[in-house]
Amino acid sequence: MQPTYLLIGSGRVSRHLERYFRLLGLRTHSWSRKGDPSSLAKLAQASSHALCLISDPAIEPFLHDHEALFSSKTVVHASGSLVTPRARGAHPLMTFTSAEPYDLGTYKAIPFVIEKGGPALTDLLPGLPNPSFELDPALKPLYHAYCVMSGNFTTLLWQKVIVEFESRLGLPRDALFPYLAQVAGNLRRDAEHALTGPIARNDDETMRRHLRELDSDPYALVYRAFIAAARGNPCENQGGRS
Ligand SMILES: NC(=O)c1ccc[n+]([C@@H]2O[C@H](COP(=O)([O-])OP(=O)(O)OC[C@H]3O[C@@H](n4cnc5c(N)ncnc54)[C@H](OP(=O)(O)O)[C@@H]3O)[C@@H](O)[C@H]2O)c1
Repeated sequence: MQPTYLLIGSGRVSRHLERYFRLLGLRTHSWSRKGDPSSLAKLAQASSHALCLISDPAIEPFLHDHEALFSSKTVVHASGSLVTPRARGAHPLMTFTSAEPYDLGTYKAIPFVIEKGGPALTDLLPGLPNPSFELDPALKPLYHAYCVMSGNFTTLLWQKVIVEFESRLGLPRDALFPYLAQVAGNLRRDAEHALTGPIARNDDETMRRHLRELDSDPYALVYRAFIAAARGNPCENQGGRS
């Protein structure tokens, strides 16, 4: 039987998934609290699968308040860290912004991390051709911490550098993009040997000079924290220095 989806929320993930589901030709309804509150019951009744795509802290209270509407539905949330008996987690391992939608190929390649011991992705989100990986639910907060470190922390670093290049150095952001692309490419090809620069070379003198220049910039703290954390970096201990 063809699924009928109800996407709840009008934020970033909801807008991307709505576009994706429509590109796939899946029957999809959308509802958000900005719209008509009374239409939720009708849309829930018309759907086989409800995706609760709202802010993490709001998911459980929302599902609790509307328990009766969803008792016979497959209910899924997209949080990377939340585990709740009220819905199954299917975390799209991707970053979704409010800018441009992505293309169909990008959407299809997004891995979904689902909860070990629960239904398969083909039951949670039938009609999606995406790869999926199972994770012990107890590990979800740690898994999500790694996602945030890799995707969000690096975004903060690049945003900082883009702004400083343009405002303090008078260099265009475009000068950075070949570097960004190569860093990502090197990590993909050979993560264990991707690190270069003064930390990889153990060049303390250069690092001290950098910290003097950064002075009271809050990112001096980040720089110091990275030096300290890199001492325990498993790649560094596996011959990553070159
Ligand atoms: N963005 C990403 O890159 C990403 C990636 C993977 C997974 N996720 C997960 O996807 C889910 C949605 O994230 P998002 O980035 O799309 O968030 P978002 O852009 O901040 O949108 C949050 C949505 O939740 C709604 N909302 C908040 N509190 C609500 C409540 N009490 N009742 C009803 N609706 C409520 C908001 O409604 P209003 O607009 O009316 O405030 C908004 O539509 C989260 O579980 C998040 O962890 C996000």
